[in-house]
Amino acid sequence: MTLWGGRVEGSLDPAVWEFLRADDAELLPYDCEATCVHARRLLDAGILTAAEFEEVETALASLAQDRGAILRSDEDVHSAIERRLGEVGRKIHAGRSRNDQVAAAMRLYVLDACAEARQEIEALALVVLSFAEAEAETLMPGYTHLQRGQPVTLGHHLLAWVEMLDRDRTRFAVAGESAAASPLGAGALAGSTLGLPAPPGQMRNSIDAVADRDFALDYLYAVAVLYTHLSRIGEEIVLWSSGEFGFARLPESAATGSSMMPQKLNPDVAELARGKAGTAIGRLAGLLATVKGLPLAYDRDLQEDKAPVFAARRDVRLGLQALTALVAGLEVNRERMAAAASDPLVLATDAAEALVREGVAFREAHERVAGSVRAGSFSPAGTAAESVAARGAPGPGGVREALAEARARFGGSL
Ligand code: ARG
Repeated sequence: MTLWGGRVEGSLDPAVWEFLRADDAELLPYDCEATCVHARRLLDAGILTAAEFEEVETALASLAQDRGAILRSDEDVHSAIERRLGEVGRKIHAGRSRNDQVAAAMRLYVLDACAEARQEIEALALVVLSFAEAEAETLMPGYTHLQRGQPVTLGHHLLAWVEMLDRDRTRFAVAGESAAASPLGAGALAGSTLGLPAPPGQMRNSIDAVADRDFALDYLYAVAVLYTHLSRIGEEIVLWSSGEFGFARLPESAATGSSMMPQKLNPDVAELARGKAGTAIGRLAGLLATVKGLPLAYDRDLQEDKAPVFAARRDVRLGLQALTALVAGLEVNRERMAAAASDPLVLATDAAEALVREGVAFREAHERVAGSVRAGSFSPAGTAAESVAARGAPGPGGVREALAEARARFGGSL
């Protein structure tokens, strides 16, 4: 029996039933939590007795982990919970609707997913920080347009990854804040006559409370940007581990072989991080398109927020963990990096700046050095190591300072 079986006669066409059913078992613990909050409101209003409340609370605690409790004959997780609560379940829906119920459960889900993402990001950042520490003095060419630009240390380059991850951490905190409000009390869209007490953190407007999915969009946006970053990190690992660059060797614990070419060690983890960025962006674009143009308040279209959010959470967890293992095991070929950094041309900017210190206008200095590069007669005054040290931040001293600052910024978490 559906929750709305009293309104319609007979049973639904099986094709219609399959189409309507929500694939939302992942919401079970969160819906149990929200249902418990609602049950307490019913207790406070005298609609549930203390004994009934206790019965609900106990039942919800064991149901929360029991995904098998959801049957194909349940329209969604909300229907399953009400059915499983038995006789007292027939009282539980007073003053609420699945509209505020699903919004409450999704918010708790996203809040949890944001906290989880932050933890996994911190675990990856920790590994990158240790890596940067070990490579504070390792020289490499820094690139623009994937052409050698100026020498840097690998430590400085890796600290750029840490900055990206730190901003991602902030984006998940912001998404979590946007999810942290309670739509309970909104009912279907406009509250109830039962005079139930407000839930903690109740949203101001009941129509907005059931119609809003900004929090899910904020989460998917944070995931899309995170994955965009992971794709760039992944791409660098792909490049560095290629024979052409030869800057790093993939750990065998995080690389794959070829089914045909016996010699191969492939960067599939890095490539999948890059590939899943497209999927992550698609999920955000998809939910934006779903929500766009929907009349307030609730519409069944909103059921489509589940699949992208659930899948995004899985990809965040698995992707960050796999990348953490990959980065932790990367073996740097310092000689190859140093050889690339000893390309004299990466010191051309320094040569122009030396002329500036002698009083030559920068444009003039640029032209003179460019001329000697074109003529093949350019020869640098110093070394790559002197160059990075002279520029401060990209050099070993700068890296150590930045490392200490980054560790403090990540606080106790790192
Ligand atoms: N499974 C639905 C969803 O995910 C729950 C809300 C159903 N509400 C309704 N009025 N039909 O959105």
